[in-house]
Amino acid sequence: NTVPVVTVDGPGGSGKGTITQMLARRLGWHLLDSGALYRLTALAARRKGVALDDEAALVNVAGGLDVTFEPTPAGEPVRVILDGEDVTGDIRTEQTGDGASRVAVIQAVRDALLQRQRDFRKAPGLVADGRDMGTVVFPDAPVKVFLTASAEERAQRRYLQLKEAGADVNIDHLLDEIRARDERDMNRSAAPLKPAEDAQVIDSTGLSIEEVLSKVMTLVGQA
Ligand code: C5P
Repeated sequence: NTVPVVTVDGPGGSGKGTITQMLARRLGWHLLDSGALYRLTALAARRKGVALDDEAALVNVAGGLDVTFEPTPAGEPVRVILDGEDVTGDIRTEQTGDGASRVAVIQAVRDALLQRQRDFRKAPGLVADGRDMGTVVFPDAPVKVFLTASAEERAQRRYLQLKEAGADVNIDHLLDEIRARDERDMNRSAAPLKPAEDAQVIDSTGLSIEEVLSKVMTLVGQA
């Protein structure tokens, strides 16, 4: 496959979601939000009454996801439809994020989602957001970015996001959750979160979205 891919991996709250959406729009390329697939697996499992440690049943849920991603106007989150129902808001809750990081440790679940992710690679190009885009899913991507930020900064960003959405949140609790999720993502044996050897690491702590975006655009232009 010669279609170009930009992979953006990194921990939750590093700004990957915002950066990849803006980048895909600017380049006019497709966007893969791979985290959404793990979130959808956790959400669909909960709705079907499947336990998050029932591997065989989870593989079926992941393999049989009936999902569509509908484009939205700039600045709005992509609309996500699961089994005909709009779950755009439901997949973003902390509960679903926590469930996602639990199903994501299961190698067979990851395998069940692999081809679905690769199918997003269509002309004129793809921007792929996740944890293992550069290491496992698109190892031949010409541009790989690993986006980080301090845990404190990520907690602060998530806090502002949730508060804006009207949620009642506690920043210390968010920081604990972010640390727990990092721990699980980095120390699992199945596709642990780490930069690909050929990835460019960008630390977004203290940088604006525009500053990060312009660094990534420069890398894309050089490729
Ligand atoms: O990025 P997001 O917060 O939506 O991802 C939710 C969870 O899904 C992550 O904490 C991680 O455990 C898992 N994930 C993954 N591989 C990816 C994307 C997400 O394991 N490529």
